[in-house]
Amino acid sequence: MRPRREARIDMSDNPRLGAEVIEDTVTSRLRQEPPVTVRAAFENAVSRLRGAGIASAHLDARILVGEALGLSREQVLTHAREPVVAAAGLCLERLLARRLAREPVSRILGRREFWSLNFALSAETLDPRPDSETVIEAALALVPRDRALSILDLGTGSGCLLLALLSELPRARGRGIDQSADAIKTATANADRLGLADRASFIRADWKDGLTGYYELIIANPPYIPAGDIAGLAPEVAEFDPRAALVGGADGLDAYRVLAPMMPVLLSHEGALVFEVGAGQAPAVAELLAAAGLTITGTRADLAGIERCVIARNHR
Ligand SMILES: C[S@@+](CC[C@H](N)C(=O)[O-])C[C@H]1O[C@@H](n2cnc3c(N)ncnc32)[C@H](O)[C@@H]1O
Repeated sequence: MRPRREARIDMSDNPRLGAEVIEDTVTSRLRQEPPVTVRAAFENAVSRLRGAGIASAHLDARILVGEALGLSREQVLTHAREPVVAAAGLCLERLLARRLAREPVSRILGRREFWSLNFALSAETLDPRPDSETVIEAALALVPRDRALSILDLGTGSGCLLLALLSELPRARGRGIDQSADAIKTATANADRLGLADRASFIRADWKDGLTGYYELIIANPPYIPAGDIAGLAPEVAEFDPRAALVGGADGLDAYRVLAPMMPVLLSHEGALVFEVGAGQAPAVAELLAAAGLTITGTRADLAGIERCVIARNHR
């Protein structure tokens, strides 16, 4: 066996290195000797992730090595020759095992960056997608930055859409609703951490039971994946995102059918809405909103060129 080199990176502040990890030392050592240097740990991680067919192996390895060793992504490269303490190696093994089981990096870390803000995730929150930033862009194009207005976020999850908007609109206030108590707890904690709690409230509610209120802007990213498509999704999505955040019935449009008729009642006169939609769903969602009496004012495409949002106004 290779002699273990002296550990020099102090991992004592890393919360993941608890008794549980230490208890596992013997088993893990039998399984695999922890790599000796940061570079070796990183290269080993890349090769194993690549071997498992994970396309983002390089980036994922850098993030996970950084997390286990308490280093930034840059430091993983600049500290390449530093030795890794055994406990940090074991911590890395745990993180890698989760990623090799196709758990997304954001779930392993318990956080995701969205609109350059950090959001904590939990079991019942969707992992926010970069595509959903299109909703924020579309909404910000509708309202002047200094206007006082009230916003409703339907199916708030981590609160990422509402809180991103509140971070850009200093005089706006907002309410996020979700059927999941876990999501409401997480969104509330995210608002606190981002310093937006005084302008955001989160309430557990099922939109099928009806909603009340009066809003100048309504945003929604409801579940819109057709039930039959779930099995064909990447395991990172199908197995780790909550089903209630994904499935929109047989054709993906169930939530829009419930929400569209409520919009003229919830929106102020001249109020606007931005609904995120799945690929190819914009015409059908626009039709549902128009049938409810709203005026469709446009759609907005995401970076891949897919029509990602339907935008409508209440002229009543
Ligand atoms: C696609 S996720 C969007 C989460 C978040 N807004 C985002 O963009 O990351 C849809 C959310 O709608 C919630 N939801 C699904 N059905 C609902 C219902 N009937 N009433 C209220 N919320 C619902 C889910 O719990 C989930 O958090």
